[in-house]
Amino acid sequence: MVKLHDLEFEPFISEEKIMIAITEISATLNREYADKKPVFLGVLNGSFMFASEIIKRFNGDCEVSFVKMGSYDGTETTGNVRTLLGLNQDLKGRQVILLEDIVDTGNTLVEIDQILKKAEVKDYKVATLFFKPEAYSKNIPIQYKGLEIPNEFIVGFGLDYDGLGRNLTQVYKRK
Ligand code: IMP
Ligand code: MG
Repeated sequence: MVKLHDLEFEPFISEEKIMIAITEISATLNREYADKKPVFLGVLNGSFMFASEIIKRFNGDCEVSFVKMGSYDGTETTGNVRTLLGLNQDLKGRQVILLEDIVDTGNTLVEIDQILKKAEVKDYKVATLFFKPEAYSKNIPIQYKGLEIPNEFIVGFGLDYDGLGRNLTQVYKRK
C-alpha cells in the first residue's frame, strides 16, 4: 500500500508484467521500423519511463523528441488539453512513433494528431503502455497497446496523482 497526498493505492500491475508488455511492443517496433529511422515522440510528463524502456530496446537509427501536454487535475480528466511544450523539431516527411503512458479518453491523442498533421509527418503510429478501452471514445487508431486496464485511476511507472507516484516501478490503483 502507498499513500500519495490524501489517497491510498494498492498494488495492481507488477514490474514484471509491465516489462513483458514492453518487450513485446519493442520486438514489433524493431521489426517494423528497422530501416526507417523513426522519430520517437514521447508525451511528457507521464511517458518518460515508458519512452526510456522502448527507446533503449530499439536497435536501429532513431531520433527522440518530446511534447508536453496537460489535461488532468487530480484524478479527473478536465477534457481541456493544453500544449505546454510544443514540437521543437521539424518532423516533415518523418515517420513518427508516438509514445504515450496511457490512453484514457483520447482527448490528448486528438490534440497531438492535429499537431502531427500540421507538421506534415509522413505517417505516425501510436504506442501506449496502458489503455482504458471503456474510456476511449475517439477513432484514432492505436497500433501498439501494452496492457488494457479497466476504467480505474492508476499511478506508477511514470503516471502520477497530482505530481506524486511517477517514480514507483510497479503500478498501483486507487484503494
Ligand atoms: P486522455 O487525454 O483522457 O486520453 O488522457 C491522457 C493523459 O491523462 C495521460 O497521458 C495521463 O497523463 C493522464 N491519465 C489518464 N489516466 C490516468 C490514470 O489512471 N492515472 C494517471 N494519469 C492518467
Ligand atoms: Mg500523460
